[in-house]
Amino acid sequence: MVFKRNILITGGAGFIGSHVVRLFVNKYPDYRIINLDKLTYAGNLANLKDIEDKPNYKFVKADICEYEEMARVMSEYRIDGVIHLAAESHVDRSIKDPFTFARTNVMGTLSLLQAAKVYWESLPEKYEGKLFYHISTDEVYGALELTNPEGIESPFTTKASSGDHHLAFGTEFFLETTKYNPHSPYSASKASSDHFVRAYHDTYGMPTVVTNCSNNYGPYQFPEKLIPLFINNIRHGKPLPVYGKGENVRDWLFVEDHARAIDLIFHKGKVAETYNIGGFNEWKNIDLIRVIIKTVDRLLGNREGTSDHLITYVTDRAGHDLRYAIDSRKLQRELGWEPSLQFEEGIEKTVKWYLENEEWVDNITSGEYEKYYEEMYGER
Ligand code: NAD
Ligand code: TYD
Repeated sequence: MVFKRNILITGGAGFIGSHVVRLFVNKYPDYRIINLDKLTYAGNLANLKDIEDKPNYKFVKADICEYEEMARVMSEYRIDGVIHLAAESHVDRSIKDPFTFARTNVMGTLSLLQAAKVYWESLPEKYEGKLFYHISTDEVYGALELTNPEGIESPFTTKASSGDHHLAFGTEFFLETTKYNPHSPYSASKASSDHFVRAYHDTYGMPTVVTNCSNNYGPYQFPEKLIPLFINNIRHGKPLPVYGKGENVRDWLFVEDHARAIDLIFHKGKVAETYNIGGFNEWKNIDLIRVIIKTVDRLLGNREGTSDHLITYVTDRAGHDLRYAIDSRKLQRELGWEPSLQFEEGIEKTVKWYLENEEWVDNITSGEYEKYYEEMYGER
């Protein structure tokens, strides 16, 4: 079969990548989707069981840092679009092991960019009809001030933030024009990769686009990140390690709404532009944790308050960014994107998914991860 487009999605066995791969494979049967992933601890082919036999899906196990391999994949599959998600993504791991983050996030992105450049420049039409889409994070902008620790009515709203809780914890938001000011090795490595992507546009004329999204949550997220870790710990009656006083603020978006934004921007976004993605849905960690506890207890049939005692305040994360809040009005205005799910619905769906997919969680949290977790947090 001749496909209309050949799209390389990197990191497609990870959390967000698996949702993007699923969306593209199902929505575009005339595109061939090549999912390239190294399958690190965070990559899991079980995330894609439902689409693995589709005729327009192909998995390639490879490391984005291997330039020769990336060059081969680009020409063998005649790739005309890249959606680049492969990365080391957990801040706590970056604090322990920054080299791995520089290697994958910086050198890996560079090797992929160079492979795309060499292949596309070898074609008669060169960059026409091509796109290198780089997925980044709001963490590159640094941290916002927490000027209103109790929260004020947010000046902006979306479907995601249209529930009872509609707060902003400061008056500033990250804009596409906000100066980069990363603090963690993770965000520093992502910032560096964003700069390389823009440099390939400015220097070689490669059609690129960069998006910076807020914290994602939903099914298939590795249970070292706050929401799935806490759901899993509540299920096992284990302590919930709250960093510092639990006052840090994050802006949460349901992962499928991020995947929908990626689809829209891949097809309709303007070359060389940056788009911020988020639902104006800020939560103080401790408030969010209380919602998670309440939801898990209710769905497990426990009396309200059963798991409250699991909250355990622990030493704060080094360099812990106080507040993230993304201004996504450009994406809403220019491309008409809007989150599809209210936060309360998203949390309910997510908790249900983790409780119904215990086997998925147990499979990936045994072995290596268990050792890592004990090293990180001690035996609890
Ligand atoms: P994840 O850690 O769940 O998945 C990362 C995937 O990349 C895994 O499948 C892993 O095997 C793969 N990978 C890692 N190193 C690789 C390498 N050297 N070669 C090939 N594959 C490799 O991450 P995620 O949460 O799904 O994030 C995906 C992307 O989105 C990342 O670029 C991240 O920076 C960005 N992002 C994440 C969030 C979030 O809240 N999770 C928010 C905004 C942006
Ligand atoms: P995380 O899910 O690691 O995402 P990020 O650091 O990229 O925002 O953490 C979300 C917030 O939750 C962050 O402020 C750190 C905090 N946190 C805890 O309090 N305890 C935990 O065990 C974890 C993993 C995170």
